[in-house]
Amino acid sequence: MLEMALAGAVRCGCSAVGERIRTNWKEPALGDKYTRFAPFYDLLSGEYPIYHAGRVLGINALAPSKGQQVVDVGCGTGLNFALLQQRIGASGTIVGIDRSAQMLRQARRRAKAQHWSNVILVQADMVLADPATLSAQIVSAGGSALADAALATYSLSLMGGWEQAWATTTSLLAPGGRVGVVDMQDPVGWARWLTPLARLACTWGGSDIHAAPWRAVEEQCTEVIRASARAGHLQIRAGNTMPARTG
Ligand SMILES: C[S@@+](CC[C@H](N)C(=O)[O-])C[C@H]1O[C@@H](n2cnc3c(N)ncnc32)[C@H](O)[C@@H]1O
Repeated sequence: MLEMALAGAVRCGCSAVGERIRTNWKEPALGDKYTRFAPFYDLLSGEYPIYHAGRVLGINALAPSKGQQVVDVGCGTGLNFALLQQRIGASGTIVGIDRSAQMLRQARRRAKAQHWSNVILVQADMVLADPATLSAQIVSAGGSALADAALATYSLSLMGGWEQAWATTTSLLAPGGRVGVVDMQDPVGWARWLTPLARLACTWGGSDIHAAPWRAVEEQCTEVIRASARAGHLQIRAGNTMPARTG
């Protein structure tokens, strides 16, 4: 486990652990919830009965295919990994990026327990990271410089300055690569009375329920797929990034 704390990027299942890589990373304050609660995240996060539905819809909308490289932004303990593996298979690659070494430690445990050797874990702050440095870390851990797809589930809304994290995410994609966002808002319709509960859950998790980061997919992607679940509390968007203009 020590190597995860030391290395900037590590490919799970490799006998040779990635060498230490310099990043602009600074250890989060001890008060970081995801640092303190990482071992209990899967139990306390409300995965079943609430949030699992969003990640299923998000990965269906993203629809990565066999052999593709997918970046999981703010991957946490790796709750997306099993669903992504079903899509990309052993020939694909998952690149999980998170700023919390403790959350990544749980993700690494998951990958090890499942014998997934195609998972690269990178410790980085998506708001502060330099995209070129991130890309170099991924390459040095055995991945490709540019990914086919990227997914952010329940993570952008708790990154103050998520727009910068979004820009960094899309810069890790090959031209026309797909991107998916799953995040939260106030429930709508009959479930509006649950708003205080939803807001409390988001506040506890550190998310801004009004951030609506899926707007970036709406505004910057083509062929956008839209879905929602849990009375509108979970919002799902996926689309193709626009290829860079030439000439
Ligand atoms: C609510 S958890 C979601 C984890 C995972 N995506 C999931 O669906 O279960 C949010 C994650 O985002 C990470 N995070 C928060 N701010 C970040 C940042 N600026 N850069 C990278 N990761 C960040 C946290 O450490 C945490 O693991």
